[in-house]
Amino acid sequence: MANYLVLSSSIVFFLFIAFFSCFSNTTDYNVLNFGAKLDEKSDSTQEFHKAWGSACNSTQAATIYVPRGRFLLKNVVFRGPSPSDYRAIGDSSGYWILFVQVNSVGVIGGTLDAKGGAFCACRTSGKNCPVRARANNILISGLTLINSQLSHTVINSCNNVMVCNVKIIALDQSPNTDGIHVQLSIRVTISGSSIRTEDDCISIGSGTRNLWMKGIQCGLGHGISIGSLAKELNEDGVQNITLTKLIFAGSDNGVRIKSWARPSKAFVRDISFQNILMRNVQNPIIIDQNYCPNNQGCPSQSSGVKISEVTYKNIHGTSATQVAVTFDCSPSNPCKGIRLQDIKLSYLNKPAQASCRHIGGTSIGVIVPQSCL
Ligand SMILES: *[C@@H]1O[C@H](CO)[C@@H](O)[C@H](O)[C@H]1NC(C)=O
Ligand SMILES: *[C@@H]1O[C@H](CO)[C@@H](O)[C@H](O)[C@H]1NC(C)=O
Ligand SMILES: *[C@@H]1O[C@H](CO)[C@@H](O)[C@H](O)[C@H]1NC(C)=O
Repeated sequence: MANYLVLSSSIVFFLFIAFFSCFSNTTDYNVLNFGAKLDEKSDSTQEFHKAWGSACNSTQAATIYVPRGRFLLKNVVFRGPSPSDYRAIGDSSGYWILFVQVNSVGVIGGTLDAKGGAFCACRTSGKNCPVRARANNILISGLTLINSQLSHTVINSCNNVMVCNVKIIALDQSPNTDGIHVQLSIRVTISGSSIRTEDDCISIGSGTRNLWMKGIQCGLGHGISIGSLAKELNEDGVQNITLTKLIFAGSDNGVRIKSWARPSKAFVRDISFQNILMRNVQNPIIIDQNYCPNNQGCPSQSSGVKISEVTYKNIHGTSATQVAVTFDCSPSNPCKGIRLQDIKLSYLNKPAQASCRHIGGTSIGVIVPQSCL
């Protein structure tokens, strides 16, 4: 019972045979024609699966149409035609809607309402929930995600994912409700979205490359984080991440890079944070290589994560604390190639302060707080 959820209002799943190019000539598969019930009481999971199966059989681009209304769905797996690697899915209780081995799929419009505590079992077992994609060529657009437990959208092991015009709201106090978590994925674009959660707005885990983020509003929560890394020794790095045109409002952090203070083969390089407005943010700019929340069980070594070529450009606004810029890098692997350009952050209408340890780089233009480079 715990895993029942309600899918409400018009959601359209597009299967693209050629990605982004088949909007005009698609065959429609309306879930009502497969027996799905709009009464919010009958389980329509099988009917959704049937609609998906038929759409996958289509030789041309297909649209699964979900009319406006509320449907009751259990965990749904939308499995692509590739029959291999069934085990890649793992335990079936860790998601709500899962795309597996699919190519070229879009989810456009609508609202996914996870109904508050519905994912308790999932949460306590430490798994990731609602929308999980493990696939290539995915488009998620115009979707509203409300109050799901744990990460709202997990992009894990994907190539070419585009997330646009997504609204994520988690107003409850649930722990670890990251808005969007990306890991082990290449070429992900997130744009034009608004994310209000208690945890990270967007978190970027190991193995993320070529991630582009633009036009995002992050409210409350912990801001945008790369890491935490150095959870273990053998870990992939994070490379080529661009973030531009963002507004952070009232969050704990703005742009953060964090790693535990223990050995790791991971790295963070070629990162660009630019054109950002901070509104009353506690740590607008922070690199924390001694990450240890709650100060419990801290490894207390020196972080092995190598951080280099990180640019901060055109970042303005207000800090909620006196120290607006914190670079606490690893003594054994100092941060290299940190570039600051046109930064202006104030605290209570006065220039904020910066705190720097084990950092090298350059600064250009007006830098407030005064650069320690
Ligand atoms: C559109 O679909 C019809 C059949 O449903 C097909 O005959 C036609 O060639 C398609 N057009 C394009 C441009 O793919
Ligand atoms: C898909 O097509 C195959 C082969 O024609 C058929 O056996 C199968 O039943 C079809 N599946 C659905 C869900 O229509
Ligand atoms: C970096 O990522 C962007 C997409 O965000 C991509 O267009 C660019 O080619 C990547 N650069 C390299 C060197 O891979």
